[in-house]
This record gives sequence, structure tokens and C-alpha cells, in this order.
Amino acid sequence: MKEHRGRPLTERAGERATAHAVRLLRAGALVAFPTETVYGLGADARNADAVHAIFEAKGRPADHPVIVHLADASDIGAWCSAVPPLARKLAAAFWPGPLTLILPRAQGVHDILTGGQSSVGLRVPAHPAAQALLHAFGGGIAAPSANPFGRISPTTAGHVAEDLGDAVALIIDGGPCKFGIESTIVAFDGETPVLLRPGGISVDALTAILGRAPKAPDARAPRTSGTLTSHYAPRTPARLIDATTLRNSVETSRFARMVVLARSVARPPGFSGTWINAPGDAMTYAQDLYAHLRTLDRADARLILIEAPPEEASWLAVRDRLERATHPGRADPVDDID
Ligand code: TXA
Ligand code: MG
Repeated sequence: MKEHRGRPLTERAGERATAHAVRLLRAGALVAFPTETVYGLGADARNADAVHAIFEAKGRPADHPVIVHLADASDIGAWCSAVPPLARKLAAAFWPGPLTLILPRAQGVHDILTGGQSSVGLRVPAHPAAQALLHAFGGGIAAPSANPFGRISPTTAGHVAEDLGDAVALIIDGGPCKFGIESTIVAFDGETPVLLRPGGISVDALTAILGRAPKAPDARAPRTSGTLTSHYAPRTPARLIDATTLRNSVETSRFARMVVLARSVARPPGFSGTWINAPGDAMTYAQDLYAHLRTLDRADARLILIEAPPEEASWLAVRDRLERATHPGRADPVDDID
């Protein structure tokens, strides 16, 4: 694998960038590209060395599987050996779009894509730049989110350049991602759909197609790194707290080196640190969530306080990301703020 030290090349999405990216992918290099969820770090899924370079770039453990991105649902036959009827229904309803299906792997699918498991993750993204790239490349593109393992996923080309610039040959800039959080992942326990990761497609939308809610994962479910307790995490310790605790915390601490991602609570007079008020509906909140976490992480604060989102179903994916980003196991010990 070639190393690409120095500032990575970023090209605006378009025919030139697509053609350049295809040449690079065919040569075994890594290309970051936009999807409607987050930016992906792509490699030719049939080239084990190129996929290996993804793991090196991310610092990701080798046994974590990678999603294979395809241009069209009709391409899945080359990658999986069977498609449960309900998986077909989900694919018909949500592809192209922010849904990943975990299906039994076909013969010849590299172990490095599956983490040695018997299944492979497949997704048909909707973003026009991803679609153009996949059609022009003509094969599967393996791509995890383009961030260092366990860190905040990128939702702009600039985020990718900051985090992984050295490792990628080209970043295709397709602007900010529409959803801003990762795809919903559904696996199958026999014929039964299992929700491995909430995401861009809501549980209500899945339920409407499936005729019943997908099952929650149990111990036998396949491994998903996005389901590790600590993930999507800023470096600064972060806490998820309700509105009242937030109001009290900023008052009693005299704001000492705290930064805040609030929803309903207004910035108190005299608070001089970064205070972001994110919008009130889950879709819009998700769009900028990772960009906000990056801004707060850069503020050199002692603590990031995040106002908890509502308990409603529409906030499930956002709540999931915030709980992992604020999991105490990952952070340095800090004074109790309650
Ligand atoms: O929205 C997304 O899904 C983005 C864009 C780039 O497509 N991709 C993404 O990839 O979030 P990644 O690798 O950051 O997260 C995908 C998750 C990982 O937790 C991985 O373990 C899981 O999908 N996964 C992939 N293949 C799997 C498999 N065969 N079985 C179980 N989990 C799998
Ligand atoms: Mg990821």
C-alpha cells in the first residue's frame, strides 16, 4: 500500500473526482467518499491488501467486519449466499438509503471483510457521489466510517482530512451529510430481523415494512463495533444530563471550563465557553451532532455537558450515539457534576 503523507487531495464531487477515485481504488489505494449518513473510507472490497490498509488507517482491530457498499440491490448475489424474504422487503423499501443488511456471506468473500464471521454487511448508499463512484467502479467498495476507531464519525470532507488525511489518496467532497449519523443495521437470526444498530432508518419505518418491530440483539448476535459501550467518543470527558441538572451544574460550577450541547436550556448570562443550542427535532439534531461534538471537543474544556434528548422512539439513534459518546468507561475521571 502506498503511503500518502502530507495534505490529502480533496476534490469536489463530480465526473473528474469519480474517474480519479476509480483509478485509485483499482490501484489499491484508499478513497474517502460522502454517503448520506457519514463519510466512508473506501477500498476495493475484492482486494484484501487494500481493505487491510483501512484497518491500519483507522487503528481498528482486525476482527471487526466492514460494510461492503454496492451500486444497486441487484448486485448482492455476488456477496451473500441467501436473502431472507424480510431482508428482500427491507432492501426494496430502503435501498438506496441508510440501511445495512447483515446476510450470510457468499463463497470467496474475504475474511477481512467479515471479521471471520459467516455474514457480510451490505449497503446501497443513496448519496449521488457514492452512487456515481459505485457505478463507475463497477464492484463492491468496503468502507467503514472515515474516522479513527472509536472516535467521532466525519460528516464533512474537512473532518476526514483532519482525522485521516495522511492515509487517504483522495477525499471526494460532497458537502455535509444529510443524515449525519450512521446507517441502521439489521441482521437476521434465521428469518427473524434483529436491530444491531439504530440509525438513519427509524424503528417505526422498519416496523411498517416488517409488520412487527425488529428484535433487540442478544449475546449470539454478530459483533458490531458501533455497539461497543464506548464509541463515537470525543477526547474530552462528556456527560449526558437532564435539563435541570444542566442548569444546576453550570450555576454551581461557575462554568469552570465547561462546554455545553443544549436543546431546551438557554445559555445563562455570563457563560463564556462554547454553548451550542441544537434544534428540537431528531432528524435535524442528528445532522449536525458529530460536527457539534467536534467543535466542543476542540474547545480545550474539562467537561462537555450534553442535555439528554427525549425518550421518544424518533430519538433512539441519537440517544444511542450520545450514550456511547458519554460512557464513563472511556473518559478520564472527573469530579462528579451531579
Ligand atoms: O452509515 C454507515 O453505515 C457508514 C457509511 C460509510 O456507510 N459506515 C459505517 O461503517 O458506519 P462502520 O464500519 O463504521 O460501522 C459499521 C458497523 C460496524 O460496527 C461493523 O462491526 C458492523 O457494521 N458490521 C459490518 N459487517 C458486519 C457483519 N458481517 N456482522 C456484524 N456487524 C457487521
Ligand atoms: Mg464507524
